[in-house]
Amino acid sequence: MEHRLWGGRFAEPTAETMRRFNDSFRFDVRLVTVDIAGSIAWAGALEQAGLISTEECETLVQGLELVRREFADGSFEPKEGDEDVHTAVERRLHELVGAAALKLHTGRSRNDQVATDMRLFAIGVARQIGERLMALQLALLDQAEAHAATLMPGYTHLQRAQPITFGHWCLAYLEMFERDRQRIEDAIARARTLPLGAGALAGNSLGVERERLTEALDEFDEVAGNSLDAVADRDYLAELHFAFALSGVHLSRLAEDLIIYSSTEFGFVELADAYSTGSSLMPQKKNPDSMELLRGKSGRLIGNLVALLTVLKGLPMTYNKDMQEDKEGFFDSFDTLDLALEVAAAAVATMRARPERMLAALDDAMLATDLADELVRHGVAFREAHSKVGRLVRRALELNLSLRELPLAEYQAVHPELDSNIYACFDFARSVARKESSGGTAPQRVLEQCARWRGEKR
Ligand code: ARG
Repeated sequence: MEHRLWGGRFAEPTAETMRRFNDSFRFDVRLVTVDIAGSIAWAGALEQAGLISTEECETLVQGLELVRREFADGSFEPKEGDEDVHTAVERRLHELVGAAALKLHTGRSRNDQVATDMRLFAIGVARQIGERLMALQLALLDQAEAHAATLMPGYTHLQRAQPITFGHWCLAYLEMFERDRQRIEDAIARARTLPLGAGALAGNSLGVERERLTEALDEFDEVAGNSLDAVADRDYLAELHFAFALSGVHLSRLAEDLIIYSSTEFGFVELADAYSTGSSLMPQKKNPDSMELLRGKSGRLIGNLVALLTVLKGLPMTYNKDMQEDKEGFFDSFDTLDLALEVAAAAVATMRARPERMLAALDDAMLATDLADELVRHGVAFREAHSKVGRLVRRALELNLSLRELPLAEYQAVHPELDSNIYACFDFARSVARKESSGGTAPQRVLEQCARWRGEKR
């Protein structure tokens, strides 16, 4: 006979279409390991409460271990009626150990069970994402150290702005990914609240001590304080979705920079062949597909966040079946980001910077701010200095000269006290070295930041 978790009050069988619509086993089977861990802890709690004997508890634990092994080695055979992972595990347990299996669900509901499973799963995968972020940070750090003094144009509005170093650019992304890691840590901390023992919604009346469960399930450090909230809460998932989506946005921005920088027009970096692909028609093409996919994948991460928030927004207390929809999107976001981060770390580690192309893209106009700063050092108010240098830029354009080619007379026309020392401004390395405020692009500062990161990432 089919093992069902419900059905006594039903006179008619479930329609085949309804089964297909309702069943979640095909995707929530991913929770099997955490589901079994939760059930083992629950069996222990039932024994402690005197609801099952020590022998029954041992039988259940051994049986659950057997089921776990069947899933792990692929010998588990799903059966018609395995509505979800919880049903499948209990059905198989029943076949393996007999009557004791019928006591496992005492005082428990699939509502607190699945809420516990998802938290355990989410904590595990969030930690993995944290490690992937760390690996990407290390790849960026290696590049930053190698290029702490490599000059390149810095952009605002994608217009040449001021000279910076390539190492500084790398460290900007390192900072972003550090915030992502912290956000994930924060979300994990809030996920570590145990719903198990909340029953269907109201609590359990059979004397199961929930506090003891946090000892058996050491991912949890406290029990949920309200049984209704315990089964209804998916905030931690929304938080992780947001953290994942924002990491995706950061990856997308990194990718966009590298797509631009690896174009022939820029040529600042060359991606490894291993992370590029070719064209079926144009033999010369080498496309930055790794980066384009990183940019594109962020769309699903954002979409999955919005999907979950949308599912939750209209739900009355407490559990509603809508919540089954929390799973596929989260699995998808995890899988997507996990692989994206792995690819990003490898692509960053293997890309080759081309300092000569970066240098060639610097032009004198990018030193206009340095000229204005020089006038400030001569006692000119900055707003006036800005306007005077603006006029010099316009003169240079009129005369079709670069700023350093403008004769001294032009400089003296805007500020009579200037002498030929003004030409010392036309030195990109000097410009960068002077940005020595903390967090600035001066190679010295970049190296200090690298040393700080090295210390933290050890
Ligand atoms: N498959 C369900 C889910 O993922 C498990 C909980 C079912 N609870 C219930 N009362 N039908 O949400």
